[in-house]
Amino acid sequence: MPTRVAIVGASGYTGAELVRLLLGHPRVELAALYARRAAGSRLAEVFPQFAGRVDLPIEELDADDCARRADVAFLALPHGDSARAVAALHQRGMTVLDLSADFRLRDAGVYGRWYGSEAEPAHPHPELLPEAVYGLPELYRDRLAGARLVAVPGCYPTAALLAVAPLVRAGLVGADRLVVDAKSGVTGAGRSPSPIAHFPEAGEGVRPYKVVGGHRHTPEMEQELAALAGAEVRLLFTPHLLPMSRGILACVYAEPTGEHEPAAYRDAMVRAYEGEPFVTVLPPGRLPDTAHVRGSNRAHVAVAVCERSGRVLAMSAIDNLVKGASGQAIQCMNLARGLDETEGLDGVGLFP
Ligand SMILES: NC(=O)c1ccc[n+]([C@@H]2O[C@H](COP(=O)([O-])OP(=O)(O)OC[C@H]3O[C@@H](n4cnc5c(N)ncnc54)[C@H](OP(=O)(O)O)[C@@H]3O)[C@@H](O)[C@H]2O)c1
Repeated sequence: MPTRVAIVGASGYTGAELVRLLLGHPRVELAALYARRAAGSRLAEVFPQFAGRVDLPIEELDADDCARRADVAFLALPHGDSARAVAALHQRGMTVLDLSADFRLRDAGVYGRWYGSEAEPAHPHPELLPEAVYGLPELYRDRLAGARLVAVPGCYPTAALLAVAPLVRAGLVGADRLVVDAKSGVTGAGRSPSPIAHFPEAGEGVRPYKVVGGHRHTPEMEQELAALAGAEVRLLFTPHLLPMSRGILACVYAEPTGEHEPAAYRDAMVRAYEGEPFVTVLPPGRLPDTAHVRGSNRAHVAVAVCERSGRVLAMSAIDNLVKGASGQAIQCMNLARGLDETEGLDGVGLFP
């Protein structure tokens, strides 16, 4: 029996990417699509690339209807709205993969500080936080087996953690003075028009935004690095927007914990990712490039040691919509439902 899947937020970028990837999944049946403004249209009217492949309507979410028609729900909604939909679908027995930030932070107080608003200062469903598994399989594969609520990581945290986690875990670099410098394509901002994503304003330049602790992915990276380091972490995160539609490149600057052989850093990465289906440690001399992972669930990672400054540079490239969102969500579904982790995800990147 195929796993019946619903996508809530099917008219957005990560929703469309879920449909594209799930069409190639041999054990999944696309059962229902939901959104808000696009409800009443057919998917191919919103996204012509699906004409002739998917003839499903987009509907308004009704939790009872969704739970009747599907076993698994992917939620590709804005935070806040997502938590309410998660609670409704989880209560009806579905396996839920939430692409929003609502269940990534384990501490409801931290969530309130970063995501709260005047209208809604606190987490709408803190009672579900203990059950949520942080969906980075390279760190939490064991806990994902059988999970019913998965918090799919943010795109920047996925890129930064895949680059530096092996070095922190091996005790080679300190987690306390990390600098995460990362660049994203414009789809990271979602499909709703905004000045930051407007072509004439995004198209010809490169800019940092939400600097010095202004970006909401900061506490998520700090939470996961603190768990690895066993101590509180405060990092400096500088996101940049690049004039491309997809991709994230993360450069993480770290300080060694002592005198280590230069080869020790790459060895730690190779050990950490041995047997990992989607992470490639690039050979010495090769550096990550978003163009090589575009459209695929792969992450390319590398590390370099600066003998002059004594610092270490951990790097990674991912596609924000695939390993940074929808592909990773499918990888987590496969693990949660006891399927082969790679099913539906073996496509190679679109290069050139
Ligand atoms: N873009 C990325 O690279 C990325 C990466 C990782 C995680 N995420 C997270 O994934 C989620 C979706 O991101 P996205 O980039 O796909 O956003 P998006 O392109 O703006 O799409 C949002 C979707 O949510 C639907 N929606 C909004 N409010 C709704 C409501 N109250 N009820 C039902 N549907 C509603 C929209 O439908 P209508 O427009 O038809 O109303 C649309 O389908 C966000 O939480 C985002 O932070 C995004």
